[in-house]
Amino acid sequence: MADAPLAVLLLAAGKGTRAKVSLPKVLLPLCGGTLLDYALDAAGGLEPHHVVTVVHHGMEQITKRLGERFEEEGIIVVDQGEPLGTGHAVQRALDGLDRKLGHEFEGNVLVLYGDTPLITRDSLLDVVETLELPPEPGTRSGQNGNPKGSIVASLLTCQEMAQEGLGRILRDQHGCFVAIREERDCSDEELEIQEVNTGICAFRSSALRQALPSLKSDNTQGEYYLTDVFGWLVAEGENVEAVPTFDPDEVLGINDLDQLAHARWVMQDRLLLSHLLNGVLIEDPATTVIERDVQIGAETTILPFVVIRNGARIGRGCEVGPFTHLRVGAQLEDGAEVGNFVEMKNSTLGSGSKAKHLTYLGDTVIGKKTNIGAGTITANYDGTAKHKTGIGDGVFIGSGAVLIAPMTVGDRASTGAGAIVTKDVPEGEVWIGVPARKLRDKEGT
Ligand code: UD1
Ligand code: CA
Repeated sequence: MADAPLAVLLLAAGKGTRAKVSLPKVLLPLCGGTLLDYALDAAGGLEPHHVVTVVHHGMEQITKRLGERFEEEGIIVVDQGEPLGTGHAVQRALDGLDRKLGHEFEGNVLVLYGDTPLITRDSLLDVVETLELPPEPGTRSGQNGNPKGSIVASLLTCQEMAQEGLGRILRDQHGCFVAIREERDCSDEELEIQEVNTGICAFRSSALRQALPSLKSDNTQGEYYLTDVFGWLVAEGENVEAVPTFDPDEVLGINDLDQLAHARWVMQDRLLLSHLLNGVLIEDPATTVIERDVQIGAETTILPFVVIRNGARIGRGCEVGPFTHLRVGAQLEDGAEVGNFVEMKNSTLGSGSKAKHLTYLGDTVIGKKTNIGAGTITANYDGTAKHKTGIGDGVFIGSGAVLIAPMTVGDRASTGAGAIVTKDVPEGEVWIGVPARKLRDKEGT
């Protein structure tokens, strides 16, 4: 069974009523991605044969936002129809996978919720690999007269988190797993149980297929709970293993915006740590925001109160901040520097170039060793369309300039303080005034 094919079923069809936002819950933003991105990342880390994402509420928005990724990674998207519970979602996902394959999928199935973004690949691997373990006498439900031996289902549990709203893990007097009880259906005594269901679980496909038809919706929510599958399997004499995790953050399901804020802290910490370990000098991690998919070279210094958005690229030996906002498409080549109240979007600052104070650079490409004076604005938007600005090597832009795009400034040219530049400035010329005109050629050119 060790090399059994793996299918990941990712459940993301719920409404997310508790988050009180109109956005589908799995599209809530987290460090420059959506909740669903992180679940997909963790699943992808296992290199599964198939990933099926079950959606319904906000399906159009979800495919619009993540469609490209679904396509690139060959992710199968299934519409659950009216969501009737996690058990129903898994049934629909399996049906969708079988349809796609043209035959019944056989192998291991990992179920993951789209609202659990902090889970890591390693924890998922633990749950899947548990299916491959021989049952240990005395510690598993298989000991209670289970003749079948092998583990057919495993689930990740946690003792360390706030239990509110979560399913409780029922064990017998030997400590063997018996069943999961959803909170709404718990007795007062069961509510006291500390060990809860994280929602992450794995099955041998054959056992899952046997168990799913047994699900009934005779609970307080009138839903088909996937969680009832485990108790049913145990009652059938099958071997089910509950694997505890000790990191409550990893398994945090995001149901409301308070939990989202907590998840952001944890994820931001992880991202900052990875940059620190790569040799990026982050002076004050507590006031630094760096989103996912940002590259920063070693020996670059990030000063306090900096926001670096998804997709920014920063070379080696750069200086960023304090108070800098690098947005999508911002790129600093080696040794470039940006300082206080500088915003960059879709713009490149060449090697050794500087924009140190009060500047907006949008849709602009700047060459090497150029100085952008305090208060420079590239006016890239005319109210209808965005336009590009090109600034060459060794240019000096004086303070308080407005460069009205589309326009270019040639190599080694200069503009005077307060110039409003509406035309292209040729190489090596000095332009001043409003609107700017040529003053003279630059000395030495
Ligand atoms: C679920 C578990 C609970 C566990 C908790 C961990 C069940 C019945 N309960 O409860 O034991 O402690 O997660 O966070 O599984 N979804 C669908 N289709 C549906 C219903 C849900 O795709 O018909 C998706 C949701 O979008 C979500 C995930 O499944 O991503 C979990 O659903 P949610 O309603 O959040 O379950 P919980 O009440 O948190
Ligand atoms: Ca949840």
